[in-house]
Amino acid sequence: MFQKLQQKWGVNHRQFWIIFIVFGLTGTTTAILTRYVTAWLGMDASSFWVWKLMVRLGMLVFGYQFILLGYGALLGQWAFFWKYEELLLRKLGVLSQKSKIKNQNNSLEPMAKGQQPIPNSQSPIAKGQQPIPKTQLAIFASGAGSNAQKIIEHFKNHPSVRVALVVCNKPGAGVLQIASDKGIPSLLIEKERFFRGDTYLPVLKEYGIDFIVLAGFLWKVPIDLINAYPQKILNIHPALLPKYGGKGMYGMHVHEAVIAAGEKQSGITIHFVNEHFDEGAPVFQATCLIDEKDTPETLAQKIHVLEHAHFPVEIEKIVS
Ligand code: GRF
Repeated sequence: MFQKLQQKWGVNHRQFWIIFIVFGLTGTTTAILTRYVTAWLGMDASSFWVWKLMVRLGMLVFGYQFILLGYGALLGQWAFFWKYEELLLRKLGVLSQKSKIKNQNNSLEPMAKGQQPIPNSQSPIAKGQQPIPKTQLAIFASGAGSNAQKIIEHFKNHPSVRVALVVCNKPGAGVLQIASDKGIPSLLIEKERFFRGDTYLPVLKEYGIDFIVLAGFLWKVPIDLINAYPQKILNIHPALLPKYGGKGMYGMHVHEAVIAAGEKQSGITIHFVNEHFDEGAPVFQATCLIDEKDTPETLAQKIHVLEHAHFPVEIEKIVS
């Protein structure tokens, strides 16, 4: 049940528990304050029940919301709770549609039903010029997210490409925190829906995703997703394919195999994704030397340096 809620909110494990604590603290504080307020107003058991009810409702509707925002801000979750309040205020008609659209650009939650994303945000344009639609990029990642971070930083303020969404299958993965810190919406996906459901295609369409980049995403990409994004899904593999690729060849397993085979060099391969693991058309490779002292760990560091230097640039070339 908790996991479902976490996915619905689109937050990582740590955030989820903080949010839970905020709700708990808010409920308790509101109850205590309500008691003080009724006593201060001189209400007791003999008071007319309608007045007591009105005070309690008032505290619940207004006091609760302020306290929620206060605790949310104190525990570093202002963005999440403000979004929650914005929804409420919009429902009450206090906030306009304009603020709704502004909110969606930075939402940390999957879009609420019925909301419309901005399909293509525009670059700053000179007067009289036609705006150029930006390519909306989704990064699929399930690990620490160092590559995702480099890609997000590379495309920050880019004139024609925008990282619109981070998709992750692992609650608590570092990449979710990175997305949150950078103000990129994230979407936690479930195995059942990804492989046997609609592959989240409607959600990707809602976000206007044009291109997908896999940066440490370990699940196989379903054929429906590949067909929906032909030659528009890129992966990075931490070895020189076709060697050291395929099922089970990921992360440290790759580097261990390369070192065990006594290779003198390794590297990275950026390739399009097809229905087989690591078999899509390669578009770029870069190499690094392996010396006798190298271990799988030191090789992993060398590979990360190559990935960070080349992946964002190669994505830009292909997307452009
Ligand atoms: C990278 O080495 C990438 O090649 C592989 O997974 C790793 C992800 O690392 N597919 P990070 O999460 O981006 O740090």
